[in-house]
Amino acid sequence: MTLDEKLGQLVQRAGGRSKALNSRLDDAELERVRTGGVGSYLHVAGAEPLAKLQKVAVEESRLGIPLLFAMDVVHGYRTIFPVPVAMASTWAPESQERAARIAAEEATAAGLHWTFAPMIDIARDPRWGRSVEGAGEDPYLGARMAVAQVAGYQGGNTLRPGALMATAKHFGAYGAAIGGRDYNTADISERTLQEVYLPPFYAAARAGSGSFMVAFNDIAGVPTTANRELLRGLLRERWGWQGLMVSDWGSVGELVNHGVAADRAAAASLALDASVDMDMVGGVFAEDLKSVVTKDPARLKQLDEAVLRILRVKEQLGLFDKPMQYHDVEREARELLAPDHREAARAIARQSIVLLRNEGKLLPLDPGKLHSIAVIGALATDGLSELGSWRAQGKVEDVVTVLKGITAAVPGIRISSAPGADPRNDDLSGIPAALKLAKAADLTILMIGEDFDQSGEARSRSSLELPPSQMELARRVLALGKPVVVLLANGRPLAIAELAEKAPAIVETWMLGVEAGNAVADVLFGKYSPAGRLPAAFPRTTGAVPFNYSANATGRPADPDLARDTVRYHDLPITPLFAFGHGLSYSEFGYTDLAQSSQSLGPGERIDISVTVENTGGVPADEVVQLYVRDPVATIARPVLELRGFKRVELGAGQRKRVTFSLTSEQFAFWGPRGQWLVEAGRIDFWIGASSGDLRASGVFEITETHMGTAPAAALPTRVIVSN
Ligand code: BGC
Repeated sequence: MTLDEKLGQLVQRAGGRSKALNSRLDDAELERVRTGGVGSYLHVAGAEPLAKLQKVAVEESRLGIPLLFAMDVVHGYRTIFPVPVAMASTWAPESQERAARIAAEEATAAGLHWTFAPMIDIARDPRWGRSVEGAGEDPYLGARMAVAQVAGYQGGNTLRPGALMATAKHFGAYGAAIGGRDYNTADISERTLQEVYLPPFYAAARAGSGSFMVAFNDIAGVPTTANRELLRGLLRERWGWQGLMVSDWGSVGELVNHGVAADRAAAASLALDASVDMDMVGGVFAEDLKSVVTKDPARLKQLDEAVLRILRVKEQLGLFDKPMQYHDVEREARELLAPDHREAARAIARQSIVLLRNEGKLLPLDPGKLHSIAVIGALATDGLSELGSWRAQGKVEDVVTVLKGITAAVPGIRISSAPGADPRNDDLSGIPAALKLAKAADLTILMIGEDFDQSGEARSRSSLELPPSQMELARRVLALGKPVVVLLANGRPLAIAELAEKAPAIVETWMLGVEAGNAVADVLFGKYSPAGRLPAAFPRTTGAVPFNYSANATGRPADPDLARDTVRYHDLPITPLFAFGHGLSYSEFGYTDLAQSSQSLGPGERIDISVTVENTGGVPADEVVQLYVRDPVATIARPVLELRGFKRVELGAGQRKRVTFSLTSEQFAFWGPRGQWLVEAGRIDFWIGASSGDLRASGVFEITETHMGTAPAAALPTRVIVSN
């Protein structure tokens, strides 16, 4: 390869998304491909247009190296599934994997080799707009969802021909942006980085994610795009991961803005040295790396390594042998929005719904007792919002909106509807008309919240309150004193204390994808008992964040008694509004017969913790059984609770099942004082519960020996066995 051909492999260019897909692939662009100046395109799609482009690379360029085609296929390609924070609410990694598998089947049929997903950043400050794209606040839950997605996208833990390559992003602490302001500095301790932010990445690396993407931001002043210690040192050398590292959009050039590079050439040099292989869109490797590598033999060697890593994934995906494998137009027509894909989207959407509140058992609704329903709220007819902010090739006309879903579910009931108010503006003029309908109806279903563009990248918000027009609409509808069910749509935990005080029934629907309306109707009318659980707590006010259930023990543990001076706000209760793991059901569950296989746990051994869960409430329903642990005395103050196991269990009315969690001592390792995973001898407390705020049974055991751990504890999976 000539130097130019090598540099060309490192270049990723955009094919055009904001105007029309593939719109930038004009003659000049084809010429670049012909001369070997491009290694990959993003924001492209379509079996046929991409076949033409691939042919130019394979047949008309000197070396015939195939291109890599990428897109953000985040929660579906054409069949759009719930947004990631919603899918995390299923607490069912198997569902998350299924959704990713279907997305991969559609995307690979449409010419794509590579998705920029999963996003596995831990989000502990819901002001951060990208909370919607991840699995919430917890590293253990996050790691499980990360592994499920990598497995789903790639169809296994090594890349094979025909697979969709996954991207674990944004390595390593993008979600820790100070104040939740997107792109902001993360100023966190090494321990927090290792224990909280990195475990999902470790799990994704182990699961064989073919690529990683760096974060835009810096950690304590070191921009990740130039973080040699993190990228080359930790990820590649210590974790042994050898995949393709892509920059984020223009992040190589942004090293100049960060103030760690004087110019673009210096930025290129730093990024390559850190082991960034491909430059997404910025053009810095394309234009400024040549001068660097011609002057510095060390960089030239690193260039060769980067090229090799890019060629290796192309090889693994089968592109050298069968470059046209991803371009079967008939398969594309068959796959996109296939009936079984829609069915899966409906099933997973219902699993994602979280019943936050249900006073007086207002839900489920009995259609036999209702003559008329008013469906109020602009979001109830907003199909685009159900698709979320990364909709890939999702189309608004594919969406069953909430109004449509309800109308179809209860043909015998008169349905009226009005927008009332729209989250995008402060116009309240539509409220009187909505109130008129609400007054005339037996029951109101009020859908309020954020639209798709109020969360997502660069959509951080300083307030977690409902947009003002939404709250005002809710106040006035609720003031009528008639039965109201509130449906929330949003991409982050919100501060809804006032609403929770006034509204008897609140259903969290996030943004549920193409089958949103059907899924919501299934839950409202009792065809399906909700069992989603919050993957992040809902605070009482914006000022209460960040708030995390898994906080370190302090010298003054929070106490409800205000006369004591403890770690709390004086003007708020010590609990969040809705705890991590919270979610109600139409049924009830008993937890009995807690047992443990041993009183002690040594290195290389396992301990089994079992409990019987019984559905005592008379309707079939799922329950999410959660295991929390605490190391009460260690050299380092440890979190008061940590999730270390969970299982979503299906239970018929009256049915009981035995759930067994099996753990190893390594799962109790913490980042020790010498910068190593350390398991200390001593007592471990554990609890089984229905949420972090609803612990039902507890026990203790003893770790017998102090020893080293080898991996981030939260990344290691607990084995779960369910028996009858
Ligand atoms: C985002 C990434 C995304 C990329 C390509 C960036 O702005 O941070 O998450 O994959 O754009 O669309």
